[in-house]
Amino acid sequence: MRDRLNKIKTQALEAIESSSCEEDLEDIRVKVLGRKGELTMVLKAIGGLPPEERPEVGQLANRLKQEIEQSIKTRRNALKDLHKRPRVEGLDLTLPGRRRQLGRLHPITQVMGEICYIFERMGFTVVHGPEIELDFYNFEALNIPPDHPARDMQDTFYIDDKVLLRTHTSPIQIRAMERQEPPLRIIAPGKVYRCDSDISHTPMFHQVEGLMVDRDISFAGLKGVLTSFIQQIFDPDTPVRFRPSFFPFTEPSAEVDIQCVMCKGEGCRVCSHTGWLEVLGAGMVHPEVFRHVGYDTEEFTGFAFGLGIERIAMLKFGIDDIRLFYDNDLYFLQQF
Ligand code: FA5
Repeated sequence: MRDRLNKIKTQALEAIESSSCEEDLEDIRVKVLGRKGELTMVLKAIGGLPPEERPEVGQLANRLKQEIEQSIKTRRNALKDLHKRPRVEGLDLTLPGRRRQLGRLHPITQVMGEICYIFERMGFTVVHGPEIELDFYNFEALNIPPDHPARDMQDTFYIDDKVLLRTHTSPIQIRAMERQEPPLRIIAPGKVYRCDSDISHTPMFHQVEGLMVDRDISFAGLKGVLTSFIQQIFDPDTPVRFRPSFFPFTEPSAEVDIQCVMCKGEGCRVCSHTGWLEVLGAGMVHPEVFRHVGYDTEEFTGFAFGLGIERIAMLKFGIDDIRLFYDNDLYFLQQF
């Protein structure tokens, strides 16, 4: 009987000491001192002991009962103190936690991903090029003459005479063609830089360049690919039109307009009352560009296009000031 009492004592006191809340203590009390508790059963069994043993075992058991009750009381007070203490130090553990804000992709990154995904499904491969670029790739190899206004210091950020921050993603075309023989089908997203700043222009913005070179590539193919792209990125029945234009590296060249997404062609401030909005530039690769990379102009033809990602994002989300993308205003960014 003494051994049993010792075992109950050791286990109960250990459990009380390691309890961390009121519920734990109550469980221990019921297990040891409850109606069918371990110690209660011992106390009940004392009557069955030989008379000479009863007083000693009875005393031991009653002392243990008091010890356990006292120990539970002491631990209960200690736990109360433990929960109270932080409040004294200015912390209230009962306050609900602050929700941790989840980050998300920037709207421009989202649209860039969507654009690449559409072209990848059409068989284009994503490639990249340097943002700090040589004048040769940014201008010369693209048939942009030395006196072209885009080469002006007012438009281009120069690092030195021959090195600059690329002003468009078109130099990636040249680098890709230098690396690879036709057929070629690439898409090249990235940051570009121009001395430009107003509600529709920022000094750093993003473009996506596309290039397809093979035998028998025609302007009809260009129209098909770009119309399909526009109808996937905007609405499937968005009206599209191709308008003649000029780029030194494409001939013939075109700019592509979509019907104004704000006024649905009625004419408004956003589309300067024309009912149309320009979304990209494109054309058949100029033979002079092919000569720079050593492609046979008799055998191969190709088309190229370049679009501003901010412009597409503004039209998609109905944003009227491009600078909002770069103000880092969380209330704005959280909407996407
Ligand atoms: C070009 O940059 C040509 N490289 C596109 C091209 C590629 C044509 C291949 C033919 C073949 P452009 O200067 O028009 O073209 O710029 C293309 C798009 O970039 C514009 O339609 C516009 O949406 C966007 N863009 C131009 N400047 C800025 C700017 N400062 N801020 C934001 N977007 C701009």
